[in-house]
Amino acid sequence: MKKFSSILLAWYQANKRRLSFRDTHNAYLIWLSEIIFQQTRISQGLAYYEKFANRFPSPASLAAADEDEVLKLWQGLGYYSRARNLHAAAKSMRGKFPTTYEGVRALKGVGDYTAAAICSMAYNMPYAVVDGNVYRVLSRVFGISTPIDSTDGKREFTALAQKLLDKKSPGDFNQAIMDFGALICTPQVPACEQCPFSKRCVARLKNRVEELPVKAQKTKISERFFHYIYVEQGPYVWLHKRGSGDIWQNLYELPLVETTKAGTLAKKPAWCGRAKLSTVGKPVKHILSHRIIWAQLYRVKLPPTAKMPTDFVRAKKVTLEKYAVPRLVQKLLEKI
Ligand code: ADE
Repeated sequence: MKKFSSILLAWYQANKRRLSFRDTHNAYLIWLSEIIFQQTRISQGLAYYEKFANRFPSPASLAAADEDEVLKLWQGLGYYSRARNLHAAAKSMRGKFPTTYEGVRALKGVGDYTAAAICSMAYNMPYAVVDGNVYRVLSRVFGISTPIDSTDGKREFTALAQKLLDKKSPGDFNQAIMDFGALICTPQVPACEQCPFSKRCVARLKNRVEELPVKAQKTKISERFFHYIYVEQGPYVWLHKRGSGDIWQNLYELPLVETTKAGTLAKKPAWCGRAKLSTVGKPVKHILSHRIIWAQLYRVKLPPTAKMPTDFVRAKKVTLEKYAVPRLVQKLLEKI
C-alpha cells in the first residue's frame, strides 16, 4: 500500500491553500501566524496576521510595544490570553527568536502543537503537529475510537502522527494534514468523493465517518448575566479595565454589574446617585466557547460633581476607539 505521507503530500502539492504566511521561513513570523491561527479560522485571521507582521516585523519591535496597543490590534479575535502571552514571550526573547525545540516550547503560550508547527516549518525539525484537524483525519482514516480528550488519546494520536510524519518534509507534511482536514476531511459533510484515502479509510468503509473522532466529555456551557452601563459625564465616558482571574483580562469595558439571574437591574449602583438609569434596547446574546453571556445595556448622565470608584478610567468620548474592548462591548457601543 502506498505510504500515507506520499498520498498526503501529493494531494497537498495539487491542492494547498496559497497563504501569505507560508512564504517565509522566518521563525518569528511563523510563530506569530501559528498563535493567531490556533483557535481561529484562516479566513478570519489573515488580516490580523498582516496587521501584526507589518506593525511588529521583529521580536524587538513587539517587545517594545505597549500591552494596550497589542490588545487593541488583537481586538475582535478572541482568546485574548494569546495576545498577552505573545507580548510577554517577545519580551523574554531579548531580540532573538529561540532556535532549539526546547527554547521554542518554553515560550509563554507555546504548547506542544505550536512548538512542533514552528520547528517543523521554520527549522525543518521532525516534529508532528497534533491539532483538531489531525485528530479528525487520523481517527477516521485509521478508525481509532480512543477519545481525543483523554491522556491515552493524546498519546496514541501523537505517536501515530509522529510515525507517519515525512521526516524530510515535516513542515509540508504538517501543513498538508491541516489543509486536508480543513478542506476535505471536514467536521460536517466531509468531501469523501474527493478524498485520496477513501478506498482505505476505515471510517468510510465501516460507515463511521460521523462518529469519529470520539470526545469523552461534553463542553459545559454556563450562562452569565451582564449589565453594562454607558456612563456619560460631559465630554467623557467611564471605562473599567478588567483584572485577572476571569475572561478578557486587561481589556477595557463599560462599568459592569453582574447578576446571577436574568432580568433588568433591580438596584442602581451607588455611584449613580440620583441620576436616572435607563435601559437601551433588549439583552444581547453573546456566545463564547464555554459561556453564553446575556448583556443588557443602560445609560446614565452624571453631573460634573459626581465621584466614580477609583478603579474606573475616564475616557474622552472622541478617543473611545483607542481602547481595546471585547467584541460584545463594541456591539453594545454601536447602540449608543
Ligand atoms: N492552521 C494553523 N496553522 C496552519 C497552517 N500552517 N496551515 C494550515 N492550517 C493551519
